[in-house]
Amino acid sequence: MRFPLAATSVILAVLWALALVQSLDFQFPNFTESDRDQLILTPDISNIAHTAIQVTPDSNGFSMVNRAGRVLYRWPFRLWSNGGKNASFNTTFVLNIKRQTASSGEGLAFILTADRDVPDGSKGQWLGIVNSTLNGSKEARTVAVEFDTGQSFPDDLDDNHIGLDVNSVYSRTSVSLNDRGIYLSKGKDVTVDVRYDGKNLTVFVDKDMKNPVISEHLNLSDYLPENVYVGFSGSTSNNTQLNCVRSWEFIGSEIKDSKLRWVWILVAVGSVLILLISIGIALFLYRKRGCQVDRLEDAYPNIDEAILGSSTAPRKYKFKELSKATELAGTPGYMAPESILTGRATTETDVYAFGVLVLEVACGRKPGGQTKRDDYISNIVHGLWELYRRGTILEGADPRLDGIFKNEEMECVLILGLACCHPNPNDRPSMKTVLQVLTGEAPPPDVPAERPVFMWPPKPPSFKEWGNSIIGGELSPFSEISGR
Ligand SMILES: *[C@@H]1O[C@H](CO)[C@@H](O)[C@H](O)[C@H]1NC(C)=O
Ligand SMILES: *[C@@H]1O[C@H](CO)[C@@H](O)[C@H](O)[C@H]1NC(C)=O
Ligand SMILES: *[C@@H]1O[C@H](CO)[C@@H](O)[C@H](O)[C@H]1NC(C)=O
Ligand SMILES: *[C@@H]1O[C@H](CO)[C@@H](O)[C@H](O)[C@H]1NC(C)=O
Ligand SMILES: *[C@@H]1O[C@H](CO)[C@@H](O)[C@H](O)[C@H]1NC(C)=O
Ligand SMILES: *[C@@H]1O[C@H](CO)[C@@H](O)[C@H](O)[C@H]1NC(C)=O
Ligand SMILES: *[C@@H]1O[C@H](CO)[C@@H](O)[C@H](O)[C@H]1NC(C)=O
Ligand SMILES: *[C@@H]1O[C@H](CO)[C@@H](O)[C@H](O)[C@H]1NC(C)=O
Repeated sequence: MRFPLAATSVILAVLWALALVQSLDFQFPNFTESDRDQLILTPDISNIAHTAIQVTPDSNGFSMVNRAGRVLYRWPFRLWSNGGKNASFNTTFVLNIKRQTASSGEGLAFILTADRDVPDGSKGQWLGIVNSTLNGSKEARTVAVEFDTGQSFPDDLDDNHIGLDVNSVYSRTSVSLNDRGIYLSKGKDVTVDVRYDGKNLTVFVDKDMKNPVISEHLNLSDYLPENVYVGFSGSTSNNTQLNCVRSWEFIGSEIKDSKLRWVWILVAVGSVLILLISIGIALFLYRKRGCQVDRLEDAYPNIDEAILGSSTAPRKYKFKELSKATELAGTPGYMAPESILTGRATTETDVYAFGVLVLEVACGRKPGGQTKRDDYISNIVHGLWELYRRGTILEGADPRLDGIFKNEEMECVLILGLACCHPNPNDRPSMKTVLQVLTGEAPPPDVPAERPVFMWPPKPPSFKEWGNSIIGGELSPFSEISGR
């Protein structure tokens, strides 16, 4: 059971690392059911039908009146970074808006937003961009290029215009398409190009690249968080229309200064190595069963005594003793303290090895002591735990990263690493929790300020894992010791 678990986690780590490296580029020449898992669709409102995105319901059994929806690309786009860099992007999409009532209503928009969910009460004039609370507020964190087909309030230019909206439905610039002979709500395909070069946002319609409809200086980092979702919002009122997007292409530049990415790539590669090594060890043990254990016992004659004594009282081990033993076993640093006593690898020892690997990569140094004499402090886990106790864990980060990372992210990585290297196997997080932390779904586990001493047999867990289908969360039995 161990290997499938390890393999799953490695594959996830690799996929995750790869997802981070890619710049955000995608192409939907049309939309089919198979594209659903690449998109976030507002439930019961937005849909994929007739090879297009229906941002608000098409007539199929749903009321089309007074609806608001959003359809976003599932993975966020990194727009800017602490280092003062702006991303740039080019996107091209084909809209098809078809009026269903005497007057069309209300409109469709291309949006960059912090929020996946369409705001409550953003139907009608709000175009799914903001609602009356969010309108004009910094909390909206949404920039939109609107294709407005309803003149819904006095400020609105007409019922056929493009506008640039920043945290508001009030357009800082709006341009009617009437003069160009383009009518948005007549069920015709309208091709739109939006370009952002880090300074200016420019909108072209129907491939007229000489005469932009809008070209406006805009510092997106003033209004939007670092990571935004891109996609479309739309709404209807008592006046309805089909808000379709027929195709969509997006090319976003990569911001290269987050060196933390390399940490993840190395962790992923390292995980593969750990997997290979543990398979290797398993094969080796399989062939030479018994032999290995005998040799370990010869070299460390007290081991049986220790294990026997353990049934009455937990015993503390000095780090020196353990590190000696670790060297004997031949893989210093990556081996969890208990594996010296049990002589076997478990899910918990894998988590320990993973933790050491994470710390090794994030701190940019070897896991073991650099010198024999100073082994305790120069051991990566002990050294970092000491920094953590003093509240200066970030000092442990690889100096070669030049501090170019988000402090919270680095802190999260380092604390996760420590949690995996908890001396008590029962207190190490499961691989499932590790993945949740890595993907930002869960905060890093609680880690005691003082590194607990290693005891055997281990104490029961001091915290409970949530969720029931824990990958590797079930403690592996250590019964082999007594059964031998
Ligand atoms: C959608 O696009 C794909 C890829 O270009 C193409 O193979 C497929 O035939 C298209 N489907 C429809 C229904 O147009
Ligand atoms: C966007 O298009 C312009 C003009 O073709 C090009 O110069 C620029 O490099 C493109 N940007 C990206 C991110 O591809
Ligand atoms: C506006 O949207 C926010 C976020 O969805 C929500 O908390 C708020 O209640 C909404 N305001 C109105 C008037 O619906
Ligand atoms: C929305 O907010 C803008 C300020 O950003 C304001 O000028 C406009 O009147 C508001 N619109 C509505 C309909 O309240
Ligand atoms: C950006 O837009 C301004 C007008 O708002 C224009 O003067 C300037 O030339 C544009 N810069 C670029 C690089 O397109
Ligand atoms: C980022 O945007 C700001 C404001 O729009 C601009 O002054 C700055 O030069 C841009 N940075 C890069 C690297 O393009
Ligand atoms: C753009 O916004 C960022 C973040 O708010 C700011 O640091 C930078 O100075 C701005 N650039 C310009 C030219 O306004
Ligand atoms: C929408 O229609 C309903 C029912 O016909 C009516 O009560 C309501 O006033 C209309 N709303 C607007 C803004 O016209």
